[in-house]
Amino acid sequence: AATVEHVFQVKDVMVKPLCKEQMIPAVNGNLPGPTINVREGDTLVVHVINNSTYNVTIHWHGVFQLKSVWMDGANMITQCPIQPSYNFTYQFDITGQEGTLLWHAHVVNLRATLHGALLIRPRSGRPYPFPKPYEEVPLIFQQWWDTDVRLLEIRPAPVSDAYLMNGLAGDSYPCSKNRMFNLKVVQGKTYLLRIINAALNTHLFFKIANHNVTVVAVDAVYTTPYLTDVMILTPGQTVDALLTADQPIGKYYMATIPYISAIGIPTPDTNPTRGLIVYEGATSSSPVKPLMPAPNDIPTAHRFSSNITSLVGGPHWTPVPRHIDEKMFITMGLGLDPCPSNTKCIGPLGQRYAGSLNNRTFMIPERISMQEAYFYNITGVYTDDFPNQPPVKFDYTRFEQRTNSDFKMMFPERKTSVKTIRCNSTVEIVLQNTAILTRESHPMHLHGFNFYVLGYGFGNYDPVRDARKLNLFNPQMRNTVGVPPGGWVVLRFIANNPGIWLFHCHMDAHLPYGIMMAFIVQNGPTPETSLPSPPSNLPQCTRDPRIYDS
Ligand code: C2O
Repeated sequence: AATVEHVFQVKDVMVKPLCKEQMIPAVNGNLPGPTINVREGDTLVVHVINNSTYNVTIHWHGVFQLKSVWMDGANMITQCPIQPSYNFTYQFDITGQEGTLLWHAHVVNLRATLHGALLIRPRSGRPYPFPKPYEEVPLIFQQWWDTDVRLLEIRPAPVSDAYLMNGLAGDSYPCSKNRMFNLKVVQGKTYLLRIINAALNTHLFFKIANHNVTVVAVDAVYTTPYLTDVMILTPGQTVDALLTADQPIGKYYMATIPYISAIGIPTPDTNPTRGLIVYEGATSSSPVKPLMPAPNDIPTAHRFSSNITSLVGGPHWTPVPRHIDEKMFITMGLGLDPCPSNTKCIGPLGQRYAGSLNNRTFMIPERISMQEAYFYNITGVYTDDFPNQPPVKFDYTRFEQRTNSDFKMMFPERKTSVKTIRCNSTVEIVLQNTAILTRESHPMHLHGFNFYVLGYGFGNYDPVRDARKLNLFNPQMRNTVGVPPGGWVVLRFIANNPGIWLFHCHMDAHLPYGIMMAFIVQNGPTPETSLPSPPSNLPQCTRDPRIYDS
């Protein structure tokens, strides 16, 4: 195994994806930032030098961080931010996973422009569990605002101005006609598309005109090969798919379009973003267009999400644990937060949006990171009382009844609560989506672990009827799952890594809403299962008023 080293210079740069120049924080001057290439078993070292005007952290989305919780990069959860003109070096091993992941800033909104691909190939000498592709192509989908990212904090967030493909808006947006991602292919060859949805707040459909693809991995876990003409990715999800250039020589559009499952919130931009597949030898004919699903095509989204299965017996595959130590039933959804005085709130009833898990709105600590509070036994930072079920039972999926301001779960409780679990225990979570205020898919992301997705469904989860239908044989494994609008998913994971691990909605707008909680996985009996000590250069939280109060 090797050590792979990178320097990330974070600085403010001018970019112009559409018609207007905009200053953004970027890594090494690029949007998206650098692609990291490692092999499974390697050690990754990234020196982050913060020359921007923002507080930053970098999160390695989907990386297990076995025995390296301090490197998880979750702002105020596992570390204090790297302040302007400070540095921090992330160092960790990448073991037990192969495929495509991403890195991104884990500070509100900054993920919009600070992100990039993290490609994990097999150890040298080990093959892919599919035919070797001719070429590998990272494909990063992004969401763009022609505005300062700091202004995205209002609730609800403003409608974005474009979606980008590898930094380019393409020919369906103004001023970007000639800036479109082009993939040149040779007829008969097979390409591995490493697709990443780095959009802040939007699930995306992706389709290529006249071509099917074969999905071979999701969230850096190999899948049973799955042939499809359309894909869906929630924010934070990745798909590895094989594309064979098996069509007549020509030009073919590939396109993304948002998947909008929501009722109750403003509609985002639904313009498709296009890239181009150009066969070698193609003449200047006009490209073939794909027929995109409608933005609210819930059945198509559900079919893709629920049809994926894991590759039984493939590299790093492990069977589903049958014994469950912790059972949780977690409701999720939006509610309201009383509007702070001297602010003008634009949410329903003159309040602002809040979100909740089991009626708790998660408050991110402000003075010290939770991981440091845990390690040094500092009390008063969080409470160990995250409930195993919501305070009231109701018909979770009926939208019409839930818009009353007197509904018990309309104004969730603001708290920093965690759930403590024993090392190596198996946790099963039924995630029940609700229709309090809005009904929409929420992509839930777990730090530090992959989970088995044992089942997806619509309506209220029924512990008898639905439990019988769970897939305990070859369920997909993921780090991010879209919980269907008005529906549920059942997850299971083995908590084998001590530390504090976030579990949150990966729509960035929903982080400040508080659709978030954290697990504390206790130490096990051996040094192998004990919390590591913090690195000596861990950023400090000492609050510089020039940074925090402006
Ligand atoms: Cu990709 Cu906590 O996030």
